[in-house]
Amino acid sequence: MYFWGIDLPNLAAVIDVEADTETVFGDDLSLDDLIWSGPQPSLPERCRGIGVDRCASSSQLITVVTAAIKGQRPVHFLPPYRTDHTMQVAELCSMDPSAVAVNTSTTFIRSVIRQRSVKSEAELAQIEAALVINAAMQTTAMRMATPGRYEREVVGTIEGLAYGRSGRKPPFSTIFSIHGQTLHNHFHENLMPAGRLAICDCGAESPMGYASDTTRTIPVGGRFTSRQKEIYEVVLAMQADALAAMKPGIPFKDVHQIAAQRLSSDFKDLGLMHGNVDRAVQTGAYALFFPHGLGHMLGLDVHDMECLGEDEVGYTDDIRRDSRFGVNRLRLAKPLAPDFVVTVEPGIYFIPQLIEQWRGENRFCDMIDYGKLESYLDFGGVRIEDDVRVTSTGAAVLGPVIPKTVAAVESSCRG
Ligand code: GLY
Ligand code: MN
Repeated sequence: MYFWGIDLPNLAAVIDVEADTETVFGDDLSLDDLIWSGPQPSLPERCRGIGVDRCASSSQLITVVTAAIKGQRPVHFLPPYRTDHTMQVAELCSMDPSAVAVNTSTTFIRSVIRQRSVKSEAELAQIEAALVINAAMQTTAMRMATPGRYEREVVGTIEGLAYGRSGRKPPFSTIFSIHGQTLHNHFHENLMPAGRLAICDCGAESPMGYASDTTRTIPVGGRFTSRQKEIYEVVLAMQADALAAMKPGIPFKDVHQIAAQRLSSDFKDLGLMHGNVDRAVQTGAYALFFPHGLGHMLGLDVHDMECLGEDEVGYTDDIRRDSRFGVNRLRLAKPLAPDFVVTVEPGIYFIPQLIEQWRGENRFCDMIDYGKLESYLDFGGVRIEDDVRVTSTGAAVLGPVIPKTVAAVESSCRG
């Protein structure tokens, strides 16, 4: 999709760097296929449409690859995503399937990541188009989050909106739940009671398959309680601080820390944490409430390029993955650069099982007020997520404004 833009299965392509040619390999439909799939443009027609003048049948691929290997030319391939692709690469390169992973080209992976990390104007326009749909999904969810309705009614409607507007399914299964403390909660059978918070983490695809990924936290019935407001404002401040810090050159892991700092400092003010704020960040005590990373790259994939390896996409030779709980889940840590598009999605969660475990171990008991947490065990969670472009001097939230302040969300819930 990225290099050739043809959205069909069973295609392969070869770039011959020395000959400066590119060839797409695939097969046209047989009459039998046509009976099930209907008439389709031929592969040469599709290739002409994207400005590629060389295409060949799938059976030719092995001839081309074998000739290159025989001629002792290096053959670089990307990590196969599916098992059948691994088998295919093994056959093409005459290697054991178990050798495919180790022979995947790091040079090629890194080149692709370098290119795809920086979004062109055309790609940014696609992400913006996905966000227009995504905004409608979020405001629809806000209007539909009324007591007595099932979560699945909201999910069905907003996923239908995504498909109805772009003709493409959402880039990931919607997370919509009154139990937002479960980070990826895909159980949608709960009846929504008044007074709960519902997390709505959803996305749409643009016509060319670019993803959006946003999260809002909605009070069922349209009014935040004062305690919900307190926690919500902390998450909002975590995101605001993160956005203000983002600019080319700053490692995203530092932006994560800035959000963690805000959480720790505001939780101290609320009496949920105590002691030195820097220590709460350094030791990872804050991660009891924020056990995931601040964000990830966004593009054709929602976790962009994750099939090329999350450490390759998000880390560098100098910035390696941190092993501390919470930040170990950070998908993106490396320095930002202009025209990266990343999600900024801080959250605060009260996960009863995790709180129980830490409390049982007396973990960070000088910094965490476990007694005060008792009354938060049924709180749920709050997450706020936007898609953000790194500009030459800072960062800009993409897409139309999606209600985000307490007042704006409450007003949107009222329709
Ligand atoms: N939207 C889900 C995630 O970023 O993991
Ligand atoms: Mn996300």
